[in-house]
Amino acid sequence: MQQKVIFVCLGNICRSPLAKALFEKHLHEKGVSAEFLADSAGTSGNHAGEKADSRTLLNARQNGLIFSHTAKKFTLEHLQTYDMVVVMDRSNERNVKSLSDNIQLHNKVHLMRNWDTEGPGEDVPDPWYGGSEGFEEVFQILNRSTSALLRELLIR
Ligand code: 4NP
Repeated sequence: MQQKVIFVCLGNICRSPLAKALFEKHLHEKGVSAEFLADSAGTSGNHAGEKADSRTLLNARQNGLIFSHTAKKFTLEHLQTYDMVVVMDRSNERNVKSLSDNIQLHNKVHLMRNWDTEGPGEDVPDPWYGGSEGFEEVFQILNRSTSALLRELLIR
């Protein structure tokens, strides 16, 4: 059975689409793509239907990663269907958990940086209002966090 993982941020145009693309890159490199289903969504539907933010795409391309994406809103159905819901920050965590009061569903929700040895348990900063260095910082955080997440899922 595939392990189903969904990455969640606010707008689903900066952090979570990149997290999904990096996770899929690690899957591909380890030859385990068939064992996983990855997706991403945003707790706000404000950017639904849009492509990823141009600054995210530019930074990813500068790091050798090209991906396509269409933003969508995270729903209760995602929380029910996916095995693991990986949120970028505490605000995303609150918004996701507010969709249900079921503890078993809440237990699927994890902070992305729980897997970041260089800032365990911190929020992935929202790069939206900052400069290009914020997008590079997010890329580095997500690259190492998604890699560590996959290593853990592969030994479960
Ligand atoms: P994301 O970034 O949650 O990483 O996709 C943001 C995108 C849009 C906005 C905020 C953060 N916004 O305010 O529209």
